[in-house]
Amino acid sequence: MLFNKMKQTAIVLLSVLAGSIGSAAAQDDESLAAMVEAWLASPHGDYHSHSFTYWNKDGEVPVACGACHSEPGFLDFLGADGSAPGSVESPSAINSPIGCAACHTGAAHALDIVSFPSGAVLDNLGSSAVCTVCHQGRQSGGAVTKAVSGTGEDTVDPELAFINVHYGVAAAVMHGADVQGGYHYPDRNYASRFQHVPSANTCTACHDPHTTQVATETCFACHRGVEDVRAIRTRHGDFDGDGDISGGIHAEISGLHARLYDAIRAYAAEIAGEPIVYAPGSFPYFFADIDGDGSIASEDAVMPNRYASWTPRLLKAAYNYQVVAKDPGGYVHNPTYLLQLLHDSLENLSARTDIDMTAIRRP
Ligand code: HEC
Ligand code: HEC
Ligand code: HEC
Ligand code: HEC
Ligand code: HEC
Repeated sequence: MLFNKMKQTAIVLLSVLAGSIGSAAAQDDESLAAMVEAWLASPHGDYHSHSFTYWNKDGEVPVACGACHSEPGFLDFLGADGSAPGSVESPSAINSPIGCAACHTGAAHALDIVSFPSGAVLDNLGSSAVCTVCHQGRQSGGAVTKAVSGTGEDTVDPELAFINVHYGVAAAVMHGADVQGGYHYPDRNYASRFQHVPSANTCTACHDPHTTQVATETCFACHRGVEDVRAIRTRHGDFDGDGDISGGIHAEISGLHARLYDAIRAYAAEIAGEPIVYAPGSFPYFFADIDGDGSIASEDAVMPNRYASWTPRLLKAAYNYQVVAKDPGGYVHNPTYLLQLLHDSLENLSARTDIDMTAIRRP
C-alpha cells in the first residue's frame, strides 16, 4: 500500500537522519519511528486530503500551486532539486503530501528569508521559515487596492471579483502590518508582528513540526484560571461591543466577525442593490442571495451564482472578512491585527449603513 511504501521510505530516510545526527541507538530508532507515525497522522501526511488530491483529475499540480501542495513542488521552490530557488519551474507530482524530505534538505534547513505576496521580505525566520513559505496566503491588501483603484467607493463595478487570500494564512496574520496580508484602510495604523513570550513566539515553538499540534498544557503555566486556549485573554476591552467581556479574546474576534458579516449583508442589499450570502466551504465564498433569506443550498453555491455586484467598499470588507475566517488560530497568532481589520472594515461600512459603532473599541 501507498502508506506502507511511504513509511518504509521514511524509515530509510530516518536512519540516514539518525546517522547524520550521530545517534544510532535502538532508542533513537524508536523515537524516529514514532515521529513517522505522528507525521502520517498529521494534516501534512494526509494522502487523502483535498490539499494533495485536488489536482488528481489533471494528473499534475500546476506551477502556481506546486510549492505548497506537493513535496516535489516545494523542493523545486527551494531549489533543492537543482533548479532556481524562489520559484517553481515545472508542474509537480500529485498525491505527494509534505513529507520528511520537504523540510529536511540542506536548502530547507538553510532557509531563513521568505518573501510574501505583498512583496515584503522577512529574515531570521529560523526553523519557522519552511512554515512561513506555505502558510503566508496568496494575496495581500495591495491586490485589493489595485483592483478597486479608479472606481467610486459605492459604485458597482462588474469588472470586480472577490479576492481570496487563500487558506491556513497563519504566517500572514502573525506578522500583521509587516507583511500586509489584510486590507489596510488609509490613515490607520495596524499591529505588526505579534510578540508573544520568548518561549512561545514562533511557529515551531508552539506547533510540533511533525504532528503540527500545539501542546496547550504549556500555555496554562502562564494563562491561569482557564482550561481551554480559546478562553485565554489578557486585555479586557469590549472589542465586539456586546457588553460581555467574560469570554476569551477568541470570543471578541468571533463576535466582531459576525457583526461584520451582518454589515456586509446589509450594505450589499441596501447599497450595492443585490443581497449577498457567504458559503464557508464553496469557492468563491460570496454568492448572490437570490431569495434574500440569508442561506444558500450547497448546490446553489456554484460559480454561475457568485456574487457579482461588488463595489470597492464591499470588496475591501469581504476581503478582510475572509482573512479572519482563514486563520482559525488568528486569535493566538495576532489578535490585535485581526480586531483592527474587523473594526475598520465595519467602521468603513458604517459610512453607508446603519451600524452603531459607539460600544466597539479599537485595540
Ligand atoms: C503559498 C502556498 C500555497 C500556494 C502557492 C497554493 N496554496 Fe492552496 N493551500 C495552501 C495551504 C497552506 C492550504 C491548507 C490550509 C489549511 O488547511 O490550513 C491550502 C489549501 C488549499 C485547498 C483546500 C481548501 C479547503 O477549503 O480545504 C485548495 C482547493 C487549494 N489550496 C487550492 C490551491 C490552488 C488551486 C493553488 C494554485 C492556483 C494553490 N492552492 C496554491 C497554500 C498554498
Ligand atoms: C513541515 C516541515 C517538517 C516535516 C514535514 C518534517 N520535519 Fe522533522 N523537523 C522539522 C523542524 C522545523 C525541526 C526542528 C525543530 C526545532 O528546531 O524546533 C525538525 C526536527 C526533526 C528532527 C530532530 C529531532 C527533533 O525532534 O527536533 C528529526 C530527527 C526529524 N525532524 C525527522 C523528521 C522525519 C523522519 C520526518 C518525516 C516523518 C520529518 N522530520 C518531517 C520540520 C519538519
Ligand atoms: C510545503 C508546504 C507546507 C509547509 C512547509 C508547511 N505546511 Fe502546514 N500545511 C500545508 C498544507 C497544504 C496543509 C493542509 C493539509 C491538509 O489539508 O491535510 C497544512 C496544514 C497545517 C496545519 C493544520 C491546519 C488544519 O487545517 O488543521 C498546521 C497547524 C500547519 N500546517 C502548521 C505548519 C507548521 C507549524 C509548519 C512548519 C513546521 C508547516 N505547517 C509547514 C502546507 C505546508
Ligand atoms: C503562541 C503559540 C503559537 C504560535 C507562535 C503559532 N501558533 Fe499556530 N496555532 C496555535 C494554536 C493554539 C492554534 C489552535 C487554535 C484553535 O484551534 O483554537 C493554532 C492554529 C494554527 C493553524 C490552524 C489550525 C486549524 O485548526 O485550522 C495553523 C495553520 C497554524 N496555527 C500555523 C502556524 C504557523 C505557520 C505559525 C508561524 C507563522 C504559527 N501557527 C504560530 C498556536 C500558535
Ligand atoms: C511564559 C508565559 C506565557 C506562556 C507560556 C504563554 N503565554 Fe500567551 N501571553 C503571555 C503574555 C505575557 C501575554 C500578553 C502579551 C501582550 O499582549 O503583549 C500573552 C498573550 C496571549 C494571547 C492574547 C490575549 C489577548 O487578550 O490579547 C493569547 C491568545 C495567548 N497568549 C495564547 C497563548 C497560548 C495558546 C499559549 C501556549 C501555546 C501561550 N499563550 C503561552 C504569556 C504567556
